[in-house]
Amino acid sequence: MAVTNRWRVKSVEDSIHDTEEPEHQLKKNLSGLDLTVFGVGVIIGTGIFVLTGEVAQTTAGPAVAISFVIAGIVCGLAALCYAEFASTVPVAGSAYTFSYATFGELVAWIIGWDLVLELALGAATVSVGWSGYLNQLLSDIGIGLPETIAGETARFNIPAMFIALLMTGVLILGIKLSSRITSIIVAIKVAIVLLVIVVGVFYVKAANFSPFIPPTEPAEGGGSGLTQPFIQLLTGFAPASFGVEGVIAGAAIVFFAFIGFDIVATAAEETKNPSKDLPRGIFGSLAVCTVLYVLVSLVVVGMQNYTELNASAPLAGAFSSVGLPFFAGIISVGALAGLTSVVMILMLGQSRVLFAMSRDHLLPPGLAKVHPTYGTPYRITLITGVVVAIMAGLIPLGTLAELVNIGTLFAFVLVSIGVVVLRRTRPDLPRAFRVPLMPVLPIVAAVASLYLMMNLPTDTWIRFAVWMAIGVGVYYAYGRKHSRLAKGGDHDHSVETGDGTTGQGHQQ
Ligand code: ALA
Repeated sequence: MAVTNRWRVKSVEDSIHDTEEPEHQLKKNLSGLDLTVFGVGVIIGTGIFVLTGEVAQTTAGPAVAISFVIAGIVCGLAALCYAEFASTVPVAGSAYTFSYATFGELVAWIIGWDLVLELALGAATVSVGWSGYLNQLLSDIGIGLPETIAGETARFNIPAMFIALLMTGVLILGIKLSSRITSIIVAIKVAIVLLVIVVGVFYVKAANFSPFIPPTEPAEGGGSGLTQPFIQLLTGFAPASFGVEGVIAGAAIVFFAFIGFDIVATAAEETKNPSKDLPRGIFGSLAVCTVLYVLVSLVVVGMQNYTELNASAPLAGAFSSVGLPFFAGIISVGALAGLTSVVMILMLGQSRVLFAMSRDHLLPPGLAKVHPTYGTPYRITLITGVVVAIMAGLIPLGTLAELVNIGTLFAFVLVSIGVVVLRRTRPDLPRAFRVPLMPVLPIVAAVASLYLMMNLPTDTWIRFAVWMAIGVGVYYAYGRKHSRLAKGGDHDHSVETGDGTTGQGHQQ
């Protein structure tokens, strides 16, 4: 079979070897607990603090708790695959690095490009959510900012830009500092979520749980072709809300609340003992969050009828509705602190993926330079921060959480398939964590992720396709020619395969 450049594979050994070059070396500072805290720090955010209300009201009713369970199961399956790959290829770059070792350069580039949707766009989305909570809080104390410059619908969103740039500064100063700040924020965030559960449970009314799954209704406004879930368009069903389909469509949206556990894998290179600490960090944070989400959503829809939930601040709103405005205030402060760490860690993940891509020369290599004192990839971090700030400041993000979801689910699909492929092509590699029931579980993970993608709106699919098409264009214009592997690099055991069946040997 003819060998073409775009299928060239970067071997796992090369990936690990690159991390040892002095000018590209990141500090190895993080433990398993640090990673779990990191995970919880990025997972709990806009999803639970904002989307719970919207999804209960428009899509799933009180059964939003089931939507959380479904999304949690899909993430748990994908987490198994992430844990195996992160313990096999403990190198910065997450799904990008992994795809380079399994599917070759073109797919790796595509996934790197795709991760921008999850990470940079996700950070911008949460920055705008942060601005919304800040303004809510400022309004409560009588000094609210005009809606043109703050909140979720601002034209020039100053607080959103501020938080993105502030977190960029923290990241440049060093990952240990970042993880210390994160620990404090995570403690506050978890305390607030526990408070919602422990106090709220006394105000739950059984009547609010019925009907638990509201009967299917035609979607609002008849549901234009583009806003209906892609699967309804494909199968020709009339657009509808609620019912079992609504619970599944809800799962595709609250999936946003789980995004982040995969980012733990992007910190692989900065972990002391990646083979043990990574699976611990990934599963630990995912398990904690799933339990908290299910309990919080049950309490909130039990406190207030789902039709009356506050769409932008449902947790605080539910407490106000039962005459506890003081708790509502505390929850808003907690949400604000909580969203801060989400913005920071999403940007951390983004800078590490871009770092790995420029180290491979698919992006200009000068970008991957590590700061001599702080040990962080400062150039990439700065660029990421500025781009996120501009997006957060200028783009009305509204429903873009869906675009973040589709990008992330696509990465899950590739990682799940990649785990199966790498077991075949490189059975020799040491794997500290192995997915059980191979290859059944990874296949189920890939199909489940794809199914959730199909439940996202059709217009999200169109935006996703356009973004990916631009990415392929950029690869052919730049990366394909400049790639370190294309130039022979300075490796002695890079490989090119035409059929993806061999992953070892010498440069051909
Ligand atoms: N999971 C993160 C959140 O819900 C992205 O904000």
